[in-house]
Amino acid sequence: MVFHRMLTVLFFSCLALTIAYLYKQNYPPMSAPIADPGMASRHAIVVGSGLAGLSAASQLISRNIPVRLLERGAKPGGNSIKASSGINGAPTTYQPVAEPLDAFYNDTTRSAGHAMSSFTAQREKLIETLTKNSAAGVEWLVQEKGVDLSRVAQLGGHSYARTHRGAGQAPPGFAIVSALLKQLKESPLFDLRTSCTVTKVLQDGAHVTGVAYAREDGKQEELHGPVIFASGGFGGDAEGLLAKYRPDLAGYPSTNDPRPGTQPLLTAIGAQLIDMDQVQVHPTGFVDPANAATPLKFLGAEVLRGEGGILLLNGKRFVDELDTREKVSNAITTTTPSSESPKQWTVQVVLDEGTYQAAKSHIDFYLFKGLMKKSTIAELGPQALESITQYAKVVAGEATDEFHRTTFANWTLKNPTPESVVYVGVVTPVVHFTMGGVLINVKSEVLGEDEKPIKGLWGAGEVTGGVHGGNRLGGSSLLECVVFGRIAGDQCADYLAGGK
Ligand SMILES: Cc1cc2nc3c(=O)[nH]c(=O)nc-3n(C[C@H](O)[C@H](O)[C@H](O)COP(=O)(O)OP(=O)(O)OC[C@H]3O[C@@H](n4cnc5c(N)ncnc54)[C@H](O)[C@@H]3O)c2cc1C
Ligand SMILES: *[C@@H]1O[C@H](CO)[C@@H](O)[C@H](O)[C@H]1NC(C)=O
Ligand SMILES: *[C@@H]1O[C@H](CO)[C@@H](O)[C@H](O)[C@H]1NC(C)=O
Repeated sequence: MVFHRMLTVLFFSCLALTIAYLYKQNYPPMSAPIADPGMASRHAIVVGSGLAGLSAASQLISRNIPVRLLERGAKPGGNSIKASSGINGAPTTYQPVAEPLDAFYNDTTRSAGHAMSSFTAQREKLIETLTKNSAAGVEWLVQEKGVDLSRVAQLGGHSYARTHRGAGQAPPGFAIVSALLKQLKESPLFDLRTSCTVTKVLQDGAHVTGVAYAREDGKQEELHGPVIFASGGFGGDAEGLLAKYRPDLAGYPSTNDPRPGTQPLLTAIGAQLIDMDQVQVHPTGFVDPANAATPLKFLGAEVLRGEGGILLLNGKRFVDELDTREKVSNAITTTTPSSESPKQWTVQVVLDEGTYQAAKSHIDFYLFKGLMKKSTIAELGPQALESITQYAKVVAGEATDEFHRTTFANWTLKNPTPESVVYVGVVTPVVHFTMGGVLINVKSEVLGEDEKPIKGLWGAGEVTGGVHGGNRLGGSSLLECVVFGRIAGDQCADYLAGGK
């Protein structure tokens, strides 16, 4: 009993001594070590909390620079959190086939197409920076942020499999954004302010000195410091920038939130734009029957067509469904839309039981979300039975396809009847990605009209332009966020260290 009490006293004495000792040693650290106390009072401003902004913020904090991150939305993550295919990197140890060093570079310039004939030298340097830093970008996410990126797929336009995602259920955009945010939130140097919309870039002579922003309650405030713009694309700006640069796409729905684009904040201080008319349209955005008129659409993944789904317009097929996104979209948009605001079409995507089984995990999710339903051919309308019967003949080799389709993937329905089970959803072309934006150099500096860097201002991610030219390769947009976001963070840290 006495012995027990002595042990207890001893235990608590030791505990008290240990706490006192640790407290004196400032351990565990109450804040990350600060290299230069003078510098610590100087913070960097990051605009936008998608992958580009989070990458820049992570890099700044690794250099002991405090970060004020301003985000217009109520929650962080931007469009990046929705990314579903993955992030490119080469050469990495996860790739099933080792590729030569210049293959990714070559694929990117080929995909950029005609755009390469203007601003050629700048584009080549940007593409070189993107592709040469791609493996390091993937490794950074895996090694330092603990993201699983062990699965690799080959997407359209790529000559090797190099698009990385995790082995589990979490989509890559969500997994990457969550990991970065979690680590950032552990740092006392990180100050995230949501529902804060940047409205102006502040300048003092040739230097950018901060931003003005509106809080949720409408109050205007200012923050001072060098600025990294990572505010994303303008795909959701249907009546603004899209209408201006691509009048043919005005009023289109998008997979991006319906919000004004931010490039005008930067042109207001002399930033140069590039490729603003280069816009990626995806043919299959879901029209949600519960909210058909919303301009924000959920993306119907490529597997819908890839695994054998067919498309019907007024009950009839009208295209080789496996043609490029651009060709399939054009085949739809040259017909009369079913609604002008948003400008959309009523295309049915139809899967039979075989196609459904092949894409089951995706389709089950769409069924759960109410974006598709299990139905019968009779419910598709009078014309559909005839079209599907004709298609079944083509699949069986008894007829040639008038749209020259030659592969049919997992379609198994041989003798369609009105009672045959089908899985159906309504889709429409959607604006998916804007290739254009502000011109940057390989240091992520935003360039002015004279092509000289605007001091104190960097750009990264979809808000910038030039690196994708006329067509972005799948997986390269998350990559540009990481590569140019980290460069921007580093450059901004150097700038602050230089006492600017
Ligand atoms: C459904 C879907 C799937 C995709 N899949 C892939 C994929 O698999 N692989 C790939 O590489 N790419 C994919 N993309 C594209 C990719 O997700 C985006 O291009 C990329 O994430 C853009 O990142 P970002 O950081 O530049 O911008 P975002 O992630 O869009 O973030 C920008 C942020 O800035 C904020 N912001 C904007 N203006 C202001 C302002 N004035 N003040 C304050 N904050 C502001 C926005 O609210 C937003 O949160 C996909 C896109 C979508 C929509
Ligand atoms: C990339 O393009 C260059 C120039 O056209 C060519 O010499 C090289 O062989 C190409 N590399 C690959 C892997 O295709
Ligand atoms: C779907 O079709 C492809 C080839 O077209 C085949 O390799 C695959 O095994 C099929 N999947 C299922 C689930 O039937």
